[in-house]
Amino acid sequence: MSRAWNDLHAHRSKLDGVTLRDLVRAPDRARDFVHTVGDFTVDLTRHLATPDTLTLLMALAREREVEAMRDAMFAGEPVNTTEGRAAMHMALRNCSDRPMQADGQDVMPGVRDVLRHMQSFCKSIHDGSWTGATDRRIENVVNIGIGGSDLGPVMATQALRPWWTSGIRAHFVSNVDPSHLADTLSSLDPETTLFIVASKTFGTQETLANAHAARRWVTEALGSDAVSKHFVAVSTNADRVRDFGIDTENMFGFWDWVGGRYSMWSAIGLSIAVAIGFDQFEAMLEGAYEIDQHFRDTPIETNIPVLLGLLDCWYRECWGCQSRAVLPYDQHLHRLPAYLQQLEMESNGKHVRIDGTEVTHGTAFVVWGEPGTNGQHSFHQMLHQGTTMVPCDFLVAAQSECPGSDDRQAMLLANCLAQSEALARGKTLDEVTADLAKTGLDDEQIRELAPHKVMPGNRPSTTMLYPRLDPTQLGRLIALYEHRVFVQGAVWGIDSFDQWGVELGKTLAGDILPGLTGDAASGDETTLRLVDHLNTLGQSRI
Ligand code: F6P
Repeated sequence: MSRAWNDLHAHRSKLDGVTLRDLVRAPDRARDFVHTVGDFTVDLTRHLATPDTLTLLMALAREREVEAMRDAMFAGEPVNTTEGRAAMHMALRNCSDRPMQADGQDVMPGVRDVLRHMQSFCKSIHDGSWTGATDRRIENVVNIGIGGSDLGPVMATQALRPWWTSGIRAHFVSNVDPSHLADTLSSLDPETTLFIVASKTFGTQETLANAHAARRWVTEALGSDAVSKHFVAVSTNADRVRDFGIDTENMFGFWDWVGGRYSMWSAIGLSIAVAIGFDQFEAMLEGAYEIDQHFRDTPIETNIPVLLGLLDCWYRECWGCQSRAVLPYDQHLHRLPAYLQQLEMESNGKHVRIDGTEVTHGTAFVVWGEPGTNGQHSFHQMLHQGTTMVPCDFLVAAQSECPGSDDRQAMLLANCLAQSEALARGKTLDEVTADLAKTGLDDEQIRELAPHKVMPGNRPSTTMLYPRLDPTQLGRLIALYEHRVFVQGAVWGIDSFDQWGVELGKTLAGDILPGLTGDAASGDETTLRLVDHLNTLGQSRI
């Protein structure tokens, strides 16, 4: 174990008996543990950390050369070493005139060209100059994609629902389960529907299968010439787009230096831009750009993604935490946990370091969550009294986007603050006993009931606060998480930008599929028996 980690482990044992009740009371707690970018505030005061912890975490960051790795990423070096690629998603939201390079080339002219193409496309949909095959305006846009070609767009589009352009509705189909497309199309009219087929590789089985089914739906209703008016593509692979039958004039490109889960800022975000309008899409890029500058230029002591990433490593390694909950007190962020699952778990769910050696630390958290206050009535019981410590992220906007929200927004805010306080403060046996004594129970009844009402407390959380969830704020929020994940990966020494672990399952599915479509499957004994069973049940054929 390295020196910095040894020091952190030694320090961790000194924190036994230190409570969050005491820590939050410390003078200057807010000075050391509250940070802002513009009006976006990140409150870290409810973390099991003292100023000494932060000093030791900074030593860890220096030992792991987090700043040098960040600078290499911003310089466009091939930090995705196993694929030999840069990770330059920051170029997609570079709102300055500065060039940004990937693999030694300025990528900004290409980025701006695609943004202009997206802008003119959005305008043509909104002003009605792009019409369907029967000259009717487009009213519904269906994004067909999966993973990074779905989760970012659907999360952001849902988050920014109050900004939707009137007359246009956005839909998302990802699952190869035929119900997903069928349910989506059931209320749509082919004449007024446009499909965005979004796939970096344009080789993803689920996306292509759904895109072919969607094309059948269009051509059966409108004839095969209708495809050019009802399908556009977002991809890095023009040949495959052409093979599918989409004119590359109607293709929006991006580049291999944009990872799938980092691609919502690229043309993969076309559905977002169509839904909220190109100006608002640009506002989202600007928010992310502010965070890029903050991450690149702010000393690590006050650098929010650095602090968040280091605290994650602290809990993972020194407190044995295995999962982290993301709890947006905002219904519009209901897809954020799913989005972050890919961002964090696909990026950092790795067992070897960049040099191929086994990691000696736990890596990615299991990330999960639901919007508050719903979660309070289900899994918060476990957060408060379970045997596992789960650090939580609370996210909340001061203002509701919903007109006439009476005092429900205040209730939402009060509940958000109450949950993080309850997790931190807990309730001691003495406090529980005193409360029960006031209810008229006798001593024996109190003795029996009290242990069930004790709340251990000392459960850490981050609170992220902002005035309202607008496009700029969403851009900040997501870029913050992206860089936080980068910092985790840098500390753990892993390649956060590859995803080899998804490949074996794809290959096996290809081997099994023939067995479910009338030919012979290959697989192990269990698979073959289950294939037979499914065939007996008649599940595979309609
Ligand atoms: O299977 C995982 C993955 O490769 C993700 O990393 C990616 O976001 C998703 O599939 C979709 O890939 P594509 O955009 O190439 O269809």
